[in-house]
Amino acid sequence: MSLLEVKDLRMYFPVGKKGLFRQEKEFVYAVDGVSFSLEKGETLGLVGESGCGKSTVVRAVSRLYTPTAGDVLLNGKNLNTLNKRELLDARRNMQIVFQNPYASLNPRETVGDIIAEPMRIYKQRGLLSMSESEIQSRVEKLMDMVGLLTYYKNRYPHEFSGGQRQRIGIARSLALSPQLVLADEPVSALDVSIQAQILNLFKDIQKEMGLSYLFIAHDLAVIEYISDRVAVMYLGKIVEISEFRDLYESPQHPYTKALLSSAPIPDPKIEAARKRIILSGDVPSPNVRQPGCYFYARCPHRFERCQSNEPTLKGSSTHKTACFLCEQQP
Ligand SMILES: Nc1ncnc2c1ncn2[C@@H]1O[C@H](COP(=O)(O)OP(=O)(O)O)[C@@H](O)[C@H]1O
Ligand SMILES: [Mg+2]
Repeated sequence: MSLLEVKDLRMYFPVGKKGLFRQEKEFVYAVDGVSFSLEKGETLGLVGESGCGKSTVVRAVSRLYTPTAGDVLLNGKNLNTLNKRELLDARRNMQIVFQNPYASLNPRETVGDIIAEPMRIYKQRGLLSMSESEIQSRVEKLMDMVGLLTYYKNRYPHEFSGGQRQRIGIARSLALSPQLVLADEPVSALDVSIQAQILNLFKDIQKEMGLSYLFIAHDLAVIEYISDRVAVMYLGKIVEISEFRDLYESPQHPYTKALLSSAPIPDPKIEAARKRIILSGDVPSPNVRQPGCYFYARCPHRFERCQSNEPTLKGSSTHKTACFLCEQQP
C-alpha cells in the first residue's frame, strides 16, 4: 500500500461570471486531473512553471482546500470518507512547509510557541496527550534536530535570518511526527548559499525519521538533488512522471525537454546531450478549457490529433508521458 495516493484530483476556483448575460460561471482550472502515488521514505519532486498549479496540489492534498473532485488516500484511508475529527487526526501525518518563511511564521509568537503550536492544537482537541513539560522538551529536541540553539527558544521570528526561519518552519512541520511532509518551494525564497544547507537538512531528517516528501520546486537543480522521482506539471496536469535519472537522461514530453534544456544541470553527461529548446507562444490562460492537448499552442511537434484529442499518461510502470507523439515512437 502506498503512503499517499492521489486520484484524479481537481481544484477549480470560481472567479466570476462570463457570457452575454453573465450567467455562465467562470473558473480557474488550477488543478485539472492529477494522479500520483508516493511510497514510504520516497521523495517525489513536482516541477513546472509558476502558475501551473503546484501549490494548489499541496493545498488540495492536505485539505487546506476542499478539492472540487478526486480522491486522496493516506495509508489507504480515503480522506473524503472522514468526518471533521477523523480528518484532523489523519492530517497530523501530513504537514506542510511553506515557501515564504517570513509570511508563514506568526511574528508575535516566540520560536518555542510557534513550534509547540501544532502539539497544543491537537492536545486541545483531545487528539494528543502530552503535558506542557513534555511539549517543551519536544520543542527543544526539534530545535536541536533542525540545527537551532535551544537558547533562542524565547526569541521572535524577526530576530532570525531567512534560513533560520525556514528551520523553524521545518521544526514546526515535524512537531507531530508526520510520515509525509509537503514542501512547497521551501528553498525558493532563500539565498543560493543557504539553499544547500536547508536541502541537506531535509535529507538528514528524512533519513532519521523515514519521512516521505512531496517536494515542489521550479528549480531543476533543486529537484535533481532531492528527488527519487519527478512529476512535471503543465497547466494543472502532470504531463510526465518518471524515476529521476530516466527523466533527466531521456525526457519524453516536448515540454519536459524544453524545461530541461533551459536549466543548467551540473552533470556533464546530461549537459552534453541536450540542445536548447526555446518555446514559442504564451502559456494559455488557466481560465479557458480547450479541447486536445493543453500544450498544443506551444508544442514544436504538434500534429492534427493533438488539437482535438487529449493525451493521457501512458508508458512503463516507472516512466509515463501524456503525449501522442511519444505513443507513436516508443
Ligand atoms: N485561491 C485562488 N483563487 C483563484 N485562483 C487561484 C487561487 N489559488 C491559485 N489560483 C490560480 O490557480 C493557478 C495555479 O496557482 P498555483 O497553484 O499557485 O501555481 P504554482 O504554485 O504552480 O505557481 C494560477 O492561475 C492561480 O492564479
Ligand atoms: Mg506555488
